[in-house]
Amino acid sequence: MKPVKKKAKVTSLSKKRQSATESGRESSGQSRIRKDGRTASQTSFSDMDLSQWRDYDHIETDSLWLFDGRGRSDGHQLDYHGNCVPQILTQLLTRFTKKQDVVLDLFLGSGTSAIEAMNLERQAIGVELKPELVEYVREKLTEQGKDYGVQLINGSSADKKWTGKAIDRALKKLDRDKAQFLFLHPPYADIIRFSEAEQCLSNAESTDSFLDEFEKVARLGFSKLEPGRFAGLVIGDKYTHGELIPLGFGCMERMNRAGFKTKSIIVKNITGNERGKGRQGNLWRYRALKGGFYIFKHEYVMVFQKPKS
Ligand SMILES: C[S@@+](CC[C@H](N)C(=O)[O-])C[C@H]1O[C@@H](n2cnc3c(N)ncnc32)[C@H](O)[C@@H]1O
Repeated sequence: MKPVKKKAKVTSLSKKRQSATESGRESSGQSRIRKDGRTASQTSFSDMDLSQWRDYDHIETDSLWLFDGRGRSDGHQLDYHGNCVPQILTQLLTRFTKKQDVVLDLFLGSGTSAIEAMNLERQAIGVELKPELVEYVREKLTEQGKDYGVQLINGSSADKKWTGKAIDRALKKLDRDKAQFLFLHPPYADIIRFSEAEQCLSNAESTDSFLDEFEKVARLGFSKLEPGRFAGLVIGDKYTHGELIPLGFGCMERMNRAGFKTKSIIVKNITGNERGKGRQGNLWRYRALKGGFYIFKHEYVMVFQKPKS
């Protein structure tokens, strides 16, 4: 679809756009090729051709994401309590990665990021603490014929030394020195206990120790990400004894301490994340009215960038 030319008041910026269009570069999509192989209408971090930006109306640019439900096609399913909806990955990987880029996920879970990376022709490295889950993801990827560009690591992402070396080996196998996108979907503290393991962030004794462990993971991710590239964090808040604990802003601050610049805070609905709550939904409504709080219907998708230098 070609960009539609609208009659508008011509400002100096739109004059520049107009002259680029008239020279045939913008409208045909055959933009000038730069030294690094990309065209003038491509960013250094995405394959999107911005001379055809009207074609990408499925890609979100607003900070409120309302998805109808969980995407269940292309190998995705609700097979793990606490897995994220694949649409988050589709959005982030399309905007912030290019084909063959490496997506590093330090809380792999059931492998949503790896599956979507493969669907979009990216590569992936996933770190997960639970050995049986790593095996499950491996089998799932093999069954789907999506295991060729994926490296799975069983270990703790808070362990900079051991896991750091394992990530370096995985990067080497994928022919890269650094990852091009970092994805973090940690436990929301103790809301879901993912395992008995001491290193599991869901077993942290307090909010502060959860954030301290999260910061270790953020620092490891920072060290393995290519400068100038992006990171996506999915996180929700929680209530403890009637008080809201803002895990989202806590994690954001720890990302900043690790060196990341905050680019966006997106509010995403959580409808469709889990199976219907039925009667329990009414009970929560009663509790909310009685206790003077609001029931969570959202979580955050936060976007960060590692500075170029
Ligand atoms: C919210 S889930 C991630 C779900 C994932 N995005 C998906 O779609 O399936 C968090 C995962 O982090 C894992 N985890 C917790 N602490 C960890 C640690 N220290 N290192 C690596 N993984 C950890 C848990 O076992 C759990 O599977």
